[in-house]
Parts: sequence; structure tokens; C-alpha cells
Amino acid sequence: MNTEKNIITGVFRMELSDILPALRILEETGLESWKYTDFETDIQNNNPLLLVGKINSRVVGFCAARLITYYSTTSYTSFNNLAFSECEIYNIAVKREYQKQGIGSSLVDRLISLTKDNNTESIWLEVRSSNKQAISFYQKNDFEKMYERKNFYSKPPENAIVMRKNLRLRFFS
Ligand SMILES: CC(C)(COP(=O)(O)OP(=O)(O)OC[C@H]1O[C@@H](n2cnc3c(N)ncnc32)[C@H](O)[C@@H]1OP(=O)(O)O)[C@@H](O)C(=O)NCCC(=O)NCCS
Repeated sequence: MNTEKNIITGVFRMELSDILPALRILEETGLESWKYTDFETDIQNNNPLLLVGKINSRVVGFCAARLITYYSTTSYTSFNNLAFSECEIYNIAVKREYQKQGIGSSLVDRLISLTKDNNTESIWLEVRSSNKQAISFYQKNDFEKMYERKNFYSKPPENAIVMRKNLRLRFFS
């Protein structure tokens, strides 16, 4: 912990009292966003992948992700009922004055460690093709560009770059 250098004080699970500060960050960073009730529902549903970064108890960043679990329905006996998960990041944002200080990366690191017990294969996300800052951030955190979705976004219309971080390799380490 080193607050003098503005190093993140911690990453925590989002609580109801963190929703308004998170919404303010969304507004400030101009993201298409979750509404209050989206955060509220996930917190009430006990989603562990709703995280906030705090400095001196002040919310300076957040990450909203969900785990999607798949069950194999293949008829091959050995694979029957095999379950695996994918993680999807819906939103991640850091207050402008705190950007480029490692807070976004700390949120992603925590997300990865939280998915460890769920046989999670990869983390996926979509990002506006013009959002060079975020694309650079994801690449720094070992996400790869996979493909593009035409006109995925509206207001303004824009393609989405779909990115993925493969988590499989960690199973062998
Ligand atoms: C993307 C974001 C969450 C990254 O958070 P962060 O705390 O700044 O990220 P970190 O400090 O861990 O990582 C820094 C890296 O992110 C990228 N980055 C972050 N801020 C940047 C900026 N203002 N300009 C250019 N690149 C930037 C760079 O790759 C940077 O690496 P560098 O310092 O070596 O240049 C943050 O920039 C943000 O909130 N952006 C606006 C919201 C957004 O676009 N979210 C993604 C939606 S898909």
C-alpha cells in the first residue's frame, strides 16, 4: 500500500454504495453503460466479478464481468456433462486522473485470479475500433484481437473489435 504514489489501495468486490461512483466514472469516460439496476441486480445475485479499485476508500475504477458456464451435450461418454466457463468483460473504466497508474491492470489481474477455480478457458470483450487507448491496454494485458463485428455499436455506429485472453496455458503452469 502506497497512497503517496497513488498506487491502488486495493481491489474489492463492488457493494451497493459503490454503484453511484462507478456510474460517475462511466459518464466521465463516455462509455455505453450499465444502468444502476444492472449493477444492483448483479450485486444482489452475488456476482463475484463486479470489482472496484479504491484509493483511500474512494472508488477510482471498476470492472464488470460475468462468467458463462457451458455444459457439453456431446454423446461421447468421456465428454458428457463436461463443464467449462468463459468470462466476459462488459465494462472496465478508470477515472481519467488515475489512468496509466496500473489500476486497470490490477482489476484484470484480480478478475483472472477469481476465475481460477471455474475451469475458465478465456476472457472475452468487445471494444470500439476507434478506442486505441483501451485496445492498447488490453494488448498490454495479453488480450489478442480475434475478429471484428460490423456496426456492433450505435450512437455513433461503429465496428467492435472482439478480443480474447486465453487462460488455458495457466492450467499447465
Ligand atoms: C482502458 C482503461 C480501463 C485502462 O486503465 P488504466 O488504469 O489506465 O490502465 P493501466 O495503467 O493498467 O495500463 C496502462 C496502459 O493502458 C493504455 N492506456 C491507459 N491510459 C491511456 C491513455 N490515456 N492514453 C493511451 N494509452 C493509455 C496504455 O497501453 C498504457 O500502457 P503505457 O502506460 O505503457 O502506455 C482506462 O484507460 C479507461 O478507463 N479508459 C476509458 C474507458 C474505456 O475505454 N474502457 C474500455 C471499454 S472496452
